[in-house]
Amino acid sequence: MNIGVIGAGAMGSGIAQVASQSGHNVVLYDTNIEALQKSDAALKKIMNRLVEKDRVTAQEAEAIVSRVTYVDALTSFSDCQMIIEAIVENLDVKKKVFTELEAIASKETILASNTSSLSIASLAAGLTHPERVIGIHFFNPAPLMPLVEIIPAISTDAAVIDTARKTVDSWKKVTVLAKDTPGFIVNRVARPFYAEAVKMFDEGMATPATIDWAMKSLGGFRMGPFELMDLIGHDVNYVVSETVWTQMYYDPRYRPSLTQKRMMEAGLLGRKSGKGFYDYSEGAEKPEPITDERMGMAIRDRILAMLINEAADAVFLNIASPKDVDLAMTKGVNYPKGLLAWGDELGVHNVLEKLDDLHARFGDDRYRASAYLRDCDAAGTSLLGGI
Ligand code: NAI
Repeated sequence: MNIGVIGAGAMGSGIAQVASQSGHNVVLYDTNIEALQKSDAALKKIMNRLVEKDRVTAQEAEAIVSRVTYVDALTSFSDCQMIIEAIVENLDVKKKVFTELEAIASKETILASNTSSLSIASLAAGLTHPERVIGIHFFNPAPLMPLVEIIPAISTDAAVIDTARKTVDSWKKVTVLAKDTPGFIVNRVARPFYAEAVKMFDEGMATPATIDWAMKSLGGFRMGPFELMDLIGHDVNYVVSETVWTQMYYDPRYRPSLTQKRMMEAGLLGRKSGKGFYDYSEGAEKPEPITDERMGMAIRDRILAMLINEAADAVFLNIASPKDVDLAMTKGVNYPKGLLAWGDELGVHNVLEKLDDLHARFGDDRYRASAYLRDCDAAGTSLLGGI
C-alpha cells in the first residue's frame, strides 16, 4: 500500500516516518517548500541518530529515507491507497484539500484526517464519496507515542474502518476505536486533569507547586497539571478546553478556566514564552510545594474522581469500549494506570461518594456523576468489566 501524507509539519513528518519505517512508500506533500526541506532534513537526522544508537542498521535507515518522496503537487497522490491529512486545523482548508483529492485519487482510496478537534462528519460532508473518510488521530510525537485513535464518521464504510485500523496496527501502534464526538477519547477524558487543578488553585486550596507535587508523588503522574499546561502552552491547551466545552453545548463539566484564559491573553504561554504558572527565566527559583500528605491526597482524589467520572461517561455514551478508554489514557498521555481500572481499585462507591460530596458542596453540575458509575455501584460490577 502506498501512503500519502498531506502537511509536512510536526505531525505529518512524524506520520510519514512511521509509515516508511513500516515499509510503505510514502508521498509527503506541503504547500510550503521550506516545510518539505525541513522535514527531509529532520528525517535524515533522526535516522542518523538511530543508526548511532544501533536501533536500525545503516541500510535500513537509508531505505526508510529513500521511501519518502517529497512533493509539491497533489497529483502525486494518484497511486496512494490511503492518504492522511495533517495540515492546519481549519475546516474550510481541510475540506478544500479533500475535494481536490477526490478528483485525483481513486474512489477506493481512504481519505483520513489527523484533526484534533473537527468532526469527521463535517470533513466528509459534501464529498462525492464520504464513505471513505475517517479520522486517524496520532499523538505528538507520532513516532514515539503508541496510541492512535481511529474515528469513523456516521457515513464511514465498515470496510474502510477495518482497513484503516489493520493498517495502523501493522505500524506497531495501539489503535482504539472512538466515536466522532468532541475531543474523541483522550482530549475529552483528560480535561479535568487541567481544569480541576486550576479550579483548586483558584479556590486558594493549594499552589501549582503543591498540586503538581500531589499528582506526581501521590498520583504517579509523570508531570503535574501545571507543569504540563506550561509545556503544552496555554494558548494550545486553553483552546482545546474551550473547543470541547462549546462543542458540548456548554456542559459545565468541561467549563474551562478564566485564570488560564487570562494567562493566554497576557502572553504568559508557559515554557515557550518564558513564563506561565512557573517562571522559566534564568536563575528563577522554583517554588516549593507544601508536602502535607493529607492535603495531597485530597487534591489527588478530587482530580482522580473527576477523571474517572469522565472515563466512565465516555463508556456510558459509547464513545469507546472500557478497554479502549483505559488504553487511550495510558498509551496516548502516559497515565500511570487506566482510569477505569483505577476507579475499580479505589472502589466505585468511594469515587461516587467523592463526586456526590463535591456536587453537594458546590451545587455545580460540573460534579454530577455519570450514570455508569451509579449503575456499576448498584450492580456491584467493575468499571472496566462493564455491567
Ligand atoms: P504544523 O503547523 O506543524 O504543520 C502543518 C503543515 O501543513 C505546515 O507545514 C503547513 O505548511 C502545511 N499546510 C497548511 N495548509 C496546507 C495545505 N492547504 N496544503 C498542504 N499543506 C498545508 O501543524 P501540526 O501540529 O503538525 O498539526 C497538523 C494537524 O494535526 C492539525 O489538524 C492538528 O490539529 C493535528 N494534531 C496536532 C497535534 C500536535 O500536538 N501538534 C496532535 C494531534 C493532532
